[in-house]
Amino acid sequence: MTRSFMTLAYISDIVPGPSSELEQIVRTSRDRNKHSQITGMLFSDAKSYLQILEGHAERLGQTVLRIAADERHRRMRMLLVQHSEIRIFSDWWLGRAVLEGRQRGLSRFADTLARAPPAARLTMLEKFALDAMSRHHSETEQ
Ligand SMILES: Cc1cc2nc3c(=O)[nH]c(=O)nc-3n(C[C@H](O)[C@H](O)[C@H](O)COP(=O)(O)O)c2cc1C
Repeated sequence: MTRSFMTLAYISDIVPGPSSELEQIVRTSRDRNKHSQITGMLFSDAKSYLQILEGHAERLGQTVLRIAADERHRRMRMLLVQHSEIRIFSDWWLGRAVLEGRQRGLSRFADTLARAPPAARLTMLEKFALDAMSRHHSETEQ
């Protein structure tokens, strides 16, 4: 793996819209991400999106600029941007997990992450993702 491989994560506020919105986002994103060889995971709760994306820096940058301009969410705050050696979500162009009934589960996790040493954050994200996928409604088919 080269140095240009990166992992990033952000949290943003959901702009409320039709209930089918998440489906649409995930469907479009999977096609796009597959094309760009980007993998990752999208979490949502009642208030926030938290997304982890991994891929080659240039394509990741282009994708994140598109996502940042999307009016279905706002106030994107980066939680982690770093070079990495491995793909955590190698099986998923975009898996998703909905943290049902949790008002602030994602923003609480983001606060915890922000207080942790940078070197520990990727491992924390990985653990959070595995935990969320096993405990909440999630689907990770291609
Ligand atoms: C929370 C959220 C996550 C998104 N994740 C991705 C993604 O992983 N990959 C992607 O290509 N688009 C993603 N999108 C959609 C993009 O913002 C954009 O709508 C889509 O890529 C199509 O772009 P275009 O209309 O310029 O063709 C996401 C949008 C939101 C609101």
